[in-house]
Amino acid sequence: KQRLQANEQGHLVLGGVDATRLAQEYGTPLVVYDVAAIRRQIQEFRAAFTRSGLRYQISYASKAFATVAMYQVIDEEGLHADVVSGGELYTALQAGFPVRDLSFHGNNKSLAELEMAVENHVGVIVLDNFHEIELLKRVLVDRNASCDVMLRVTPGITAHTHRYTQTGQVDSKFGFDVDSGQATRALQKVLAIPQMNVIGLHAHIGSQIFDVTGFDLLVKKLMTISAQWRDRLGFTPRILNLGGGFGIAYTATDDPLTPADFIQPIAARLRQLADRYQLPLPEVWIEPGRAIVGPAGYNLYTVGSRKDIPDLTTYLSVDGGMGDNIRPALYQAKYAAVLANKMNEPTHETVHLTGKYCESGDILIDQLALSRNEPGDLIAVLDTGAYGYSMASNYNRNPRPAVVFVEDGQAKVVVRRETYADLVRLDVRYE
Ligand code: LLP
Repeated sequence: KQRLQANEQGHLVLGGVDATRLAQEYGTPLVVYDVAAIRRQIQEFRAAFTRSGLRYQISYASKAFATVAMYQVIDEEGLHADVVSGGELYTALQAGFPVRDLSFHGNNKSLAELEMAVENHVGVIVLDNFHEIELLKRVLVDRNASCDVMLRVTPGITAHTHRYTQTGQVDSKFGFDVDSGQATRALQKVLAIPQMNVIGLHAHIGSQIFDVTGFDLLVKKLMTISAQWRDRLGFTPRILNLGGGFGIAYTATDDPLTPADFIQPIAARLRQLADRYQLPLPEVWIEPGRAIVGPAGYNLYTVGSRKDIPDLTTYLSVDGGMGDNIRPALYQAKYAAVLANKMNEPTHETVHLTGKYCESGDILIDQLALSRNEPGDLIAVLDTGAYGYSMASNYNRNPRPAVVFVEDGQAKVVVRRETYADLVRLDVRYE
């Protein structure tokens, strides 16, 4: 990857810090975020919106990576964030994130989660289903409170991405179906509840999307419903939230669009349809998760054992694996990696990069071209910032890695490495 930097010793440099120094100081496996890369990506989204002339809001989908320090950075950058659980909400509150700038998502928010959201004055609750409308109504009436809501709709659009990360297709578990009239019934219900103020419509079609077609179809769908609702119910959503899903490059063959590549055509289509249907130009919200943190993250591992199977393959094992990055095992996700302490050496072999977990499915990279290496060398898997640490587990009772933020030549631990004592902290002896 061209954007990688190395120093004269041939060591990978992240945020101005030598990666081998990070490994020595904090141990491996280690998750490292280049904070400047996060800020740059946010600026790119902002610049694209500014050029489009749309009124907009960027809400970081914190499920991609949610820790106190991350919410702090998002707040510093002036973004909104969305949360999908009481736990993410709690983390955001602990970080001092402005609650008004939070949206709360989820297809099965519990009563306790809705109470927590209302009591803390979360900015927007994104309503997903009829059960939730009833629950939230009860919470609001009991507290004599009110709140802003959006309706999440299922637009019936199939994003071209992994089946597990499609969310907008007709048979999706998320949201009110548009075509069958569910969404309209939901809106009528909510409009009749004085404690709920509908500020917009939400849809999310999927994740790791590489073309704008799905968003174009989505905009058409949402503008069409907006026009129908105005005509039939006298209601027009002020905000269209188009969700996230903007793809990033994991390997050399991935060719992602830039934020502007998505936003320009979306803006053009919105203007055209606002004109055609005589609707006000809506404010546009998006919810990128992966595109903001993915490329900024690196997983550092130490090379350990190897197994050469003559004429077949070589397994090269590192000290982490599916516990800190489940994506290859779960989605057949591909990654690139480099030998971070020998950046300038020629390629020598192709290995199967595997972890230390007791499963054959513990794959990090299927076919990795590497220079000559030995135990103790440092591997950096690239672009691990989204859905890596946030989906980490303690499988095999391996402690989860530490997370370090690097910026301007400084490194700071933002999540401490788990200890063995942490692993048994919640265990209770049976006697
Ligand atoms: N908004 C909503 C309502 C979502 O459900 C999601 C992701 C996003 C925004 C952010 O999508 P992004 O911009 O990050 O693609 N664990 C999977 C991805 C699951 C995404 C779930 N929803 C993976 O590792 O690929």
